[in-house]
Amino acid sequence: MTELDLIQQTAAFVQEKLRDAEAGHDWWHIQRVWNNTKLILETEEADALVCELTALLHDIADSKFHDGDEQIGPRIAGEFLQRIGLDKRRIEHVQQIISNMSYKASLGQVDFHSKELEIVQDADRLDAIGAIGIARAFQYGGFKNREIYNPNIPPQQQLSKEAYKNTTAPTINHFYEKLLLLRDKMNTTTAKQIAAHRHLVMESFLQQFYSEWNGES
Ligand code: ADP
Ligand code: NI
Repeated sequence: MTELDLIQQTAAFVQEKLRDAEAGHDWWHIQRVWNNTKLILETEEADALVCELTALLHDIADSKFHDGDEQIGPRIAGEFLQRIGLDKRRIEHVQQIISNMSYKASLGQVDFHSKELEIVQDADRLDAIGAIGIARAFQYGGFKNREIYNPNIPPQQQLSKEAYKNTTAPTINHFYEKLLLLRDKMNTTTAKQIAAHRHLVMESFLQQFYSEWNGES
């Protein structure tokens, strides 16, 4: 199979697998992360095949929905990649990246590092900011029946991911708790540049939001 075939087979597999996925991590999220990955790869040197396959497979199975089984995603990805004949070294690399992009990894227990991980992690984080990031935040907030904004509830900084998931803070708070912090978490120079623009989009959105909230034009 050519590299293009491998990527197309993987895209088809993921699209089918995520047919009934929740909206925050559906096929369209995967497609955007894949596109972000390709955009970053235009100016970063890395194993593009590993990056693209990982972008496609990174949310294939969320441990949140599998009794906290952290290995389910990497396992399903690995079994699939073996079936389509990807070499063993690359399969292990894809699995390592997926494991280390997971919830546990975000708590700082990361023991693996590569340029390819940096790129896919950036691509995933880019999908949480900018215009798409704004849309995803309000969709999440709507799903959780949150207020869009409440001037009496200030942002709660420095809560754990789990803790703030369980708060009933309005969606605007999420910008201060997470979205506006992501620009400075980008790994690659390319993603830092893309993030800078998307960050400005969120800042101008917030400025306009408060103007309108306060009855200004
Ligand atoms: P991931 O772990 O893939 O980054 P999450 O499951 O934390 O994603 O979030 C999925 C989407 O929902 C992201 O765009 C994120 O910003 C948004 N989101 C998560 N928590 C909140 C929240 N408390 N309020 C608003 N949006 C949220
Ligand atoms: Ni993702």
